[in-house]
Amino acid sequence: MMVRIFDTTLRDGEQTPGVSLTPNDKLEIARKLDELGVDVIEAGSAITSKGEREGIKLITKEGLNAEICSFVRALPVDIDAALECDVDSVHLVVPTSPIHMKYKLRKTEKEVLETALKAVEYAKEHGLIVELSAEDATRSDVNFLIKLFNEGEKVGADRACVCDTVGILTPQKSQELFKKITENVNLPVSAHCHNDFGMATANTCSAVLGGAVQCHVTVNGVGERAGNASLEEVVTALKILYGYDTNIKMEKLYEVSRIVSRLMKIPVPPNKAIVGDNAFAHEAGIHVDGLIKNTETYEPIKPEMVGNRRRIILGKHSGRKALKYKLDLMGIKVNDDQLNKIYEKVKEFGDLGKYISDADLFAIIREVLGKEIEEKIKLDELTVVSGNKITPIASVKLHYIGEDITLIETAYGVGPVDAAINAVRKAISGVADIKLEEYRVEAIGGGTDALIEVTVKLRKGTEIVEVRKSDADIIRASVNAVMEGINMLLD
Ligand code: KIV
Ligand code: ZN
Repeated sequence: MMVRIFDTTLRDGEQTPGVSLTPNDKLEIARKLDELGVDVIEAGSAITSKGEREGIKLITKEGLNAEICSFVRALPVDIDAALECDVDSVHLVVPTSPIHMKYKLRKTEKEVLETALKAVEYAKEHGLIVELSAEDATRSDVNFLIKLFNEGEKVGADRACVCDTVGILTPQKSQELFKKITENVNLPVSAHCHNDFGMATANTCSAVLGGAVQCHVTVNGVGERAGNASLEEVVTALKILYGYDTNIKMEKLYEVSRIVSRLMKIPVPPNKAIVGDNAFAHEAGIHVDGLIKNTETYEPIKPEMVGNRRRIILGKHSGRKALKYKLDLMGIKVNDDQLNKIYEKVKEFGDLGKYISDADLFAIIREVLGKEIEEKIKLDELTVVSGNKITPIASVKLHYIGEDITLIETAYGVGPVDAAINAVRKAISGVADIKLEEYRVEAIGGGTDALIEVTVKLRKGTEIVEVRKSDADIIRASVNAVMEGINMLLD
C-alpha cells in the first residue's frame, strides 16, 4: 500500500524557534524535497510576509513535480495571498478544540464551522486543491471533526487532516481515532503529529494503521517545540516495520537531512535515528565482531539504504578485530605485528579517557608504520585582523601541492576563528566540496595562556573525519585542525 508524504519542513519546520530561511534557502530545500520524492511541499504561509511570498513564488515558478501548498487560515485574505503565489493547494486550518475555539478564536463551534466552509468554498472557486485541517483535533470532540470534514467535502474539500497539535496521542489512541474518522469520512485523511512526548513517529505510523493515507512530516523532525514527526523516521519505519511504500527515494534521506540542517543551522544529533552520524556507528568489541560476521547482527537496516554509512568508532571498548575492520575500511594494510602495535596504542589512548578521533588513529598509524600521510594542501600563510569595532577578516595562502597551484583567499567572520576558517574553506572550494560540520573548543588549564583544544568534524559527501588539535593559540589550533581534516578527505 502507498502512503503519501506531505512535507512541512518549510512551514511548520520553519516555525522552529530561531529558524528563519531566506527565499533562496527555501528554494534550495524545495528542490531537494522534490528530488527526494515528497508528494506535497507546504512551502510556507503566504500571508506571513513579503519575503515568505517571495520564497513561495520562487518555488511555484520552479515547475517541480510535487504539489506546492500554502498554509492558510480560514480567511479570504490568506487565500488571496496564497493565490498571489500561484500555489496548487492550500492547507486550510481551523482550530476545533474547545480551548482553541474559546480562548484563541472566541467563536462557537457553529461559527467555526461556518467560517471554515465559506473559506473552503472561496478557495475552490479559485481553483485550489483544499486540505481542510483541524488544529488541536486530538483535544476536540470527534463528532465535531467528522461533521466538519463531511460538510467540508460537500463544499469541495479534497482532503482532511487531523492535527495532534500538542503531541498528546499515544500509538493506541492514534490508531483508534484515525479508524473512527476514516470510517465516517470519505475524504482521504492526513495525520499531522507533534513530538512533545517523543511519540510523533509512532503515532503517525499508528494513524496509517488506522486508515490515514497521508503523513505530515518534516526533515530531521524540525518544528515547533519538540518538533514534528520526522520524515526519515516515518518513511523508514513505514517501509521496514509496517510494509508500506512511499514515493521517497530513501537513499537520498541522509543528504537531504544534511542540507536542511545546514540551511536551518540546526545540527543533527549524532544519535538521531536513520540520519544521525551514530545511527550506524559501532564501538563495543562484541558488536563489531558480530557485524564482521553478519551486519544484520547489529544493524536493522543497511546504512546505504538511507544514504548513511557504517562507522567504526575506536575506544577502550574496541577489540582487535574492530581495529582490523576499521583499517580495512580505510584501505590500510597491516601485518599482525603492526596490528598489535597499533592496537596497544589505541588502548593506551582509550585508557586516558579519550575517544580516538580519525586524526589520532592516523597519527598512531603513521608512528607504527613509519610513513607520512601525504600532504596535498599546505598552509603557507595566515593573517587575521580583529579588534574593537572592526569586522574580523582573515586571508590565507595555500599551496595545492599536486597541481602546484597557489590558492589565496580573504574572508570575513563573526570572530577571528570564523574568519580564518571561512578563508580556508573559500580557498579550497574549487578543489573539493568539504563542509565544516562541527567545531568544539575546550581550554585545558585555567589561565589566559591555557592550552586550547579544538575538535573539528569535516564532511565530504558521506565521508566524515574528526580532528583534534591543541595549541596555545586558538586560531592556529583551529586552522591546523581544519587543514589536517582537509588533507585526510582529499583523495
Ligand atoms: O500542529 C498544528 O496544529 C499545525 C496546524 C496549524 C496545521 O501545525
Ligand atoms: Zn504542526
